[in-house]
Amino acid sequence: MSLPAVPTPPAVGFYDAVGGEPTFRRIVARFFELVVTDPILRAVYTDEDLGPAEDRLRLFLMQYWGGPTTYSDERGHPRLRMRHAPFAIGVRERDAWLGAMRVAVGEAGLAEPRREQLSSYLESTATHMINRRE
Ligand code: HEM
Repeated sequence: MSLPAVPTPPAVGFYDAVGGEPTFRRIVARFFELVVTDPILRAVYTDEDLGPAEDRLRLFLMQYWGGPTTYSDERGHPRLRMRHAPFAIGVRERDAWLGAMRVAVGEAGLAEPRREQLSSYLESTATHMINRRE
């Protein structure tokens, strides 16, 4: 299977332009609110307390988009595909994940072109996490 193209690195200034940490906090908090009510996602995110998972996703996204490097300071190299290997992620899970993210990003009200940049990054990265045939 050929790998998808590496996503374009974010433009300098994206993190501040979208409002910094509060914006990422809002998006990821909303995403996890949706996770707990979605049976497909709840079957993958099985921890009773999803607070730590929320912190990791928020810190990763903040770092990726040019914010503080707390994620790697605490967790090391992201190695996202490897870290997702224990979870069964097929097209169904990818679609559920992106559906919740789409709502969360939509509600954050980012201006274009940034909303589109963030959305297409999330889409290509989520597809890259697929590790199971249906
Ligand atoms: C395709 C659908 C996806 C599913 C079903 C999924 C599911 C999960 C699950 C179950 C975990 C473990 C929760 C935890 O951290 O305790 C996790 C961790 C994580 N996911 Fe995803 N994920 C998906 C896509 C993505 C994408 C697109 C990104 C980034 C853009 C991402 C970033 C992360 C990060 C940063 C962690 C924490 C890794 C660590 O430091 O251990 N995930 N994911």
